[in-house]
Amino acid sequence: MTRLDRVEQTRGRFAEPPLTPRTAVIWSVLRAELDRRGDAELTVLDVGGGTGGFAVPLARAGHRVTVVDASPDALAALTRRAAEAGVADRIAAVQGDGDALAGLVEPAGVDLVLCHAVLEVVDDPTPVVTALATALRPGGAASVLVAGRAAAVLGRAMNGHLDVATTLAADPAGTAGPRDTLRRRYDAPGAAALLGAAGLVVEEIHGVRVLADLLPAAVADGQSAAVVELERALAAQPPYRDLAAQLHLFARRPA
Ligand SMILES: C[S@@+](CC[C@H](N)C(=O)[O-])C[C@H]1O[C@@H](n2cnc3c(N)ncnc32)[C@H](O)[C@@H]1O
Repeated sequence: MTRLDRVEQTRGRFAEPPLTPRTAVIWSVLRAELDRRGDAELTVLDVGGGTGGFAVPLARAGHRVTVVDASPDALAALTRRAAEAGVADRIAAVQGDGDALAGLVEPAGVDLVLCHAVLEVVDDPTPVVTALATALRPGGAASVLVAGRAAAVLGRAMNGHLDVATTLAADPAGTAGPRDTLRRRYDAPGAAALLGAAGLVVEEIHGVRVLADLLPAAVADGQSAAVVELERALAAQPPYRDLAAQLHLFARRPA
């Protein structure tokens, strides 16, 4: 099968990966970039890609994806999922640390780098973002998803944990202390500054899960298509964007 055959065969499936409030906005942004690149086979790097929620659909769309993740269990699940999807030959699973990307991937060899829900758990996000930027070809794009700070404060307060909300709001890194599962959270200017310091130019910022975590389960489950549409409608608009559980930044290494 030629690449174009594969693209034709898979394009319909890629057009509709499982769209949820957690993924719909990100896929919209990625889809625009993939469309912009036409039929080119892209080299994609997914740092902390876990079990392949993004890697597998991208491979099914005809791209080559390397997933670097610290967890052998996640990579084993990714490998199974890739085999089941028939794209094992298009996905490389590499166990490694995002901080040490330089030793794992060629500099300036990647068209699209993903780093979703990782910068809030690593020891130090700065070298990770520097490594993402270094891995990109000039003109290449980065899709970065980080935990949102405001949503965490509001969420703790709404659940009655006012002391935790107070700590989180006052902490410079946006954590609630040593028992917090995340090491940091971001607002849009802070996340953009992190990418900008590594030489990436931020083109778009969207909120992900503006509403999803606030809705009663009956609404979220019963009207899931309407929730996705409303998430899409609000994602780019402050103040809704800035209250989202996660912030998605789309950035580019200057050509
Ligand atoms: C919250 S999960 C996100 C998975 C996936 N990116 C997603 O959005 O569904 C975080 C992932 O980052 C990986 N991870 C954590 N620290 C890492 C590091 N220093 N280097 C590489 N991967 C790391 C974890 O093993 C896990 O798979």
